[in-house]
Amino acid sequence: MRTSAQATALAPSEIAVLARAMSRAPSVHNTQPWRMRVRHSDVDLIERASVALPSHDPEGRDRMVSCGAALAHLQTAARVLCRATTTTYPAGGAVVATVHAEPGFSPDHAELARFHAIGRRRSHRRWFSAEPVSEVDQKAVSAAGGETCVCAVVPRHLGELGAMLGFATRAFRADPAYQRELRAWTASTFGSHASGAEDGVPEAALGSESLPAAGLVRRETPVPDDARLTARLEAEHLLVFCTEGDSRREHLAAGAGCARTWLEATARGLAGSVLTQPLHLCGFREVLAERLALPGLPQVIFRYGHSLAPAPPSPRRPLADLLPD
Ligand SMILES: Cc1cc2nc3c(=O)[nH]c(=O)nc-3n(C[C@H](O)[C@H](O)[C@H](O)COP(=O)(O)O)c2cc1C
Repeated sequence: MRTSAQATALAPSEIAVLARAMSRAPSVHNTQPWRMRVRHSDVDLIERASVALPSHDPEGRDRMVSCGAALAHLQTAARVLCRATTTTYPAGGAVVATVHAEPGFSPDHAELARFHAIGRRRSHRRWFSAEPVSEVDQKAVSAAGGETCVCAVVPRHLGELGAMLGFATRAFRADPAYQRELRAWTASTFGSHASGAEDGVPEAALGSESLPAAGLVRRETPVPDDARLTARLEAEHLLVFCTEGDSRREHLAAGAGCARTWLEATARGLAGSVLTQPLHLCGFREVLAERLALPGLPQVIFRYGHSLAPAPPSPRRPLADLLPD
């Protein structure tokens, strides 16, 4: 018979569910910059700061946003295991969040649907179909982020956004160091991230479309003119996740909010992808915040709609890699 202390401790089968949910979270260049450590009924989310993208993400901001996405998946899975979650955020160190997962919770239908969406969610770097997203779905997707220090806003002034994205696209296309790094993280036929790899972005997931569908700009990515890019943005649904400042807690919250939104969209039969690449150009976020009258600093741009064709899956590390000895 299990004692009450054993009954609250996470069982190996529960840990496997949590690890799988975490591993499927989106991450910058599919770097999966996280590990987990289980202590009784607590799960520490640990940042793998050794994963570096000096050209795309010199400050490690996207790495922390990615950890936030993993946190949202972890919390969702814990609640579906009928555990109430409270999360604490150490101010510094490798442990970026600890989820206390105590038995005694009944997940609602929406939570279950988001959990089931974890395995289906993929980055959809393609055009969306012309089928409109219903008002009900738009409201639910916008509301799903629900993080105290994050605002998810539908951007206005899309002409300004189009012009700025066009500018960023041209800058990234012409940056050899950036392009070298992106190639190293694109699974093709060479390098340590070649096909069969456990991380990186598969060639098939990138496609050959232009912005905004092409999430990552490569040398050969077509650049539409600003007017056409603006027209394409107007045909999509966009949410910009903003925070007041740039603290680690805010980056985590932006990632968690975006991941929950993405799961809600997936649960409703929609597809989505995120853009952060342009936000890494020096001074870009501040100018964008001003021109789009955003309520804070943009951390992630999320686009969603009905898909025309399913997006290919991306690889993941073995679950054993998630759990340090
Ligand atoms: C913080 C963050 C930044 C990202 N930035 C971009 C981006 O700028 N462009 C893009 O196409 N995808 C971006 N992605 C999506 C990742 O490349 C994607 O999640 C990863 O390759 C795993 O693929 P999946 O989402 O299909 O599981 C980003 C994801 C995260 C979490």
